[in-house]
Amino acid sequence: AGESDPLITEVQDWNRYLGAGVQAAPYGVPSAHEAHVVRRDVEWLTASTESSVNFTPLHALDGIITPNGLCFERHHGGVADIAPADHRLMINGLVDKPLVFTMADLMRFPRENRVYFLECAANSGMEWRGAQLNGCQYTHGMVHCVMYTGVPLKTLLDEAGIKTNGKWVLAEGADAAGMTRSIPMEKALDDCLVAFKMNGEALRPEQGYPLRLCVPGWEGNMWVKWLRRLEVGDEPWQQREETSKYTDLLANGKARRFTWVMDPKSVITSPSPQMPIAHGKGPLVVSGLAWSGNGRIKRVDVSIDGGRNWTTARIDGPSFSKALHRFYLDIDWDGSDLLLQSRALDEHGFYQPTKNALRAERGENSIYHNNSIQTWHVKEDGTVENVEVS
Ligand code: MTE
Ligand code: CO
Repeated sequence: AGESDPLITEVQDWNRYLGAGVQAAPYGVPSAHEAHVVRRDVEWLTASTESSVNFTPLHALDGIITPNGLCFERHHGGVADIAPADHRLMINGLVDKPLVFTMADLMRFPRENRVYFLECAANSGMEWRGAQLNGCQYTHGMVHCVMYTGVPLKTLLDEAGIKTNGKWVLAEGADAAGMTRSIPMEKALDDCLVAFKMNGEALRPEQGYPLRLCVPGWEGNMWVKWLRRLEVGDEPWQQREETSKYTDLLANGKARRFTWVMDPKSVITSPSPQMPIAHGKGPLVVSGLAWSGNGRIKRVDVSIDGGRNWTTARIDGPSFSKALHRFYLDIDWDGSDLLLQSRALDEHGFYQPTKNALRAERGENSIYHNNSIQTWHVKEDGTVENVEVS
């Protein structure tokens, strides 16, 4: 701002006239100046929008909670439109007492509030063979982090009474995709949640309204939306989503299966290709997200020279198990090229691998479970590009 900045010296319209009154937007919407902060898809990625994905604008967000309207969407058969009064949740199979719950029934069980990330197993899948998509929204945006309110799955299974040979739970969705996944009983009884609220309000239709399953730390595909049935069985069901899809083809032709846990991962959200440095050299806030399906993030290291030297970043905000963590590194940018990287370490001692280490272990045929270190090339003019270092 110069000496005669009209924004300082002159009265502005918003200062002169009354603004909109209460009830101008009974359900609030973001400022019109934030209209560019939206979920985006990649048109060439899928043949139709009903079986497709859009991405969370991670580059434009801060803190650890994803606003509901910006949580990425992944549907295999479009968004089911279900009136809560018409929704039922059935428990059948190896139980003492098969049960059917209405939404009203579910509201009478003791409930819990928990913050979890959800990451699609295919997040970063396009980056296996080389740097491809130019923006963390696209490379890492199949993740969101929400506070869910719901009833522990264990409570509902206990109500039905699991028979001694009940070792697996099949979760089934009510959408046109009829998504089904087998979940081992140990996990079902540990921390799974049958949720009806997200960040305090009802689940959004895109996120499974009126009911979804949360399978904390495990791949997003298991978090069945529009949850309508839980079957208890003695072995996995070998559904499409655990045979043809969501398996990891290795270099030797064998495939890893039932790779549930999302391993530690992180990404610098700013600066990033969609968030270039606009202010020139001097103080620069490097900001990013880290998460692990194993538990809490213990440490995040940031490198500005492509992984030669590392500095421990500052984790700020709550550190919940199996939730996003926000980190910052406040640096004095000298205006030179940077090769920005971050690497997460979780409380169980698991580190994020380099891209080359991941490929050495898992080959180049995979789509799912790419948790490798991301590199952003920051140029002298402040623009940023998705690159790889060898
Ligand atoms: N549940 C049903 N019923 N149908 C679906 O298509 N997609 C799954 C999972 N649950 C899906 C589903 C996949 S692959 C992911 S990654 C997550 O939901 C995405 O959740 P979100 O749309 O809330 O981001
Ligand atoms: Co998915």
